[in-house]
Amino acid sequence: MKTRDTTEETVTLARVTGETGGDLVLRRVGAHYEIYSNGVFLMDTRDGTSEREMVRASLGALPPGRSLARVLIGGLGVGFSAREALNHPRVATVDVVELEPHVIDWHDGELGEAADRVHLDPRCRVYNADIVDWLEETAGAARPPRYDAVCLDTDNGPDWTVTEGNGRLYEAQGLEWLTRLLAPGGVLSFWSANAVPAFEELLRGRFASVEVVEVPVARGVPDTVYLASAPYRVSARTCSG
Ligand SMILES: C[S@@+](CC[C@H](N)C(=O)[O-])C[C@H]1O[C@@H](n2cnc3c(N)ncnc32)[C@H](O)[C@@H]1O
Repeated sequence: MKTRDTTEETVTLARVTGETGGDLVLRRVGAHYEIYSNGVFLMDTRDGTSEREMVRASLGALPPGRSLARVLIGGLGVGFSAREALNHPRVATVDVVELEPHVIDWHDGELGEAADRVHLDPRCRVYNADIVDWLEETAGAARPPRYDAVCLDTDNGPDWTVTEGNGRLYEAQGLEWLTRLLAPGGVLSFWSANAVPAFEELLRGRFASVEVVEVPVARGVPDTVYLASAPYRVSARTCSG
């Protein structure tokens, strides 16, 4: 759990209707920024340790000697994960898929300073799409792009998704799509605000290598990053959705 000084000045910078039909809010609190969707906290700029660790651990798990890596990130948020990838010496390109066009636009304004305007880096492409639809379409293509690291941080975790549809990302079908986009030796990672044993079990049934990384937080249970690689098999037939 993140804590904050309640005496800090709070300014609502934007309140718009998000893609899910509810309020999407950007606030500045003291020197930090917070994003809320339907009243639910999505992300802020205070810490970001585990969001960065997800990317660092994924890249660190790639086979040694691997040449420059292509990274796919689900969820732009405040851009910490994308910035971590762009700052990594082994990364060539970073594709980001973000549902909310307003979140992307906010990076043109003062929020963009938090991650040094990742969206303007020539190595970074930001797609405005629902990643569930994007994956279904992209993984079903005759020649899908291949990524060395695919890092998903769209939700509070497999058992606490921000939309009902996002649940598919953590089920067999979503894992099948994600696996189709993995380059040989590639690593898939998932961010979660808590450990989800049933999801770990699902991963272990589909990947030869599964690692669970716990990242301590100031209060409460650690954030959890799941790393999966070496899929047992990929069925092309089940990728059409
Ligand atoms: C927790 S934030 C991401 C934090 C990010 N790792 C960072 O470093 O700031 C989650 C982001 O995922 C986006 N998101 C949620 N569902 C999505 C979906 N289905 N497709 C694409 N983006 C989605 C949200 O709008 C939000 O920007």
